Amino acid sequence: MVAVASKENIQTQLMDRLNNDHFHIATVMNALEKMFAGFPDEDIDWSEVSDMLSYLQEYPDSVHHPLEDQLFDRVLDKGLTPVERELVHTNLAQHAEIISATLRLDQDVNQILNDTVVPIGKVLEDFEHYIQLQRTHMRNENTHLFPLAQRLLTPEDWRDVAADYASHVDPMLDLKQGRFASLFEYITER
Ligand SMILES: [Fe+2]
Ligand SMILES: [Fe+2]
Repeated sequence: MVAVASKENIQTQLMDRLNNDHFHIATVMNALEKMFAGFPDEDIDWSEVSDMLSYLQEYPDSVHHPLEDQLFDRVLDKGLTPVERELVHTNLAQHAEIISATLRLDQDVNQILNDTVVPIGKVLEDFEHYIQLQRTHMRNENTHLFPLAQRLLTPEDWRDVAADYASHVDPMLDLKQGRFASLFEYITER
C-alpha cells in the first residue's frame, strides 16, 4: 500500500509543528519572567537574555510568524464573518508589533551589555508588556485562529504552506551542537 500524504496528515503535521513552536516560545517567556522576578536582589544575566532575543528573532520572528501570516492570509479569502475578519486582522497586526518589539528590546539589551546607561525600570516594563503580548497572541491563535484555519483551508493551502515550512528548522531542536544549546539547557534546567 502506498502512503499518501492526505490533507489530514499534512494539516496534523503542520499543526503539531505550530504547537511545538508555541511551546518553545512560551518556555522562553517563562524563562524571561523568572529571570526578571528576582531583580533587584538578584542580578540579571543580560547575555542570557540576549541569547533568548536572538532565538526569538532567528526563528519565531523570521519563520513562525511569517508562515502563520501565509495561513491566515489564505483564511481571509474564505468568506469570513466580520468578527472573524477582525480577529485575523488583529492577529496579523500583532505579528508586526511582536517583531518590532523583539528588535527594540534587543537594541536595549545590547546597550546594557555595552555599559550604556539605560533606564532599567523602563526596559523591564517593556519586557513585561512583551511577555503578556506574546502570551495573549498565542492564546488567540490556539483558541480562534488555528481552529478557523483548520475549518476553512483547502488541501492545497496546507500543502503550499507546509512546503515552505519544511526548509526551516527550529534551531532550538538542534540541542547539543546548535547555537542555542546553552539557552536550551538554561531554560529546561529551571
Ligand atoms: Fe503568531
Ligand atoms: Fe503562533
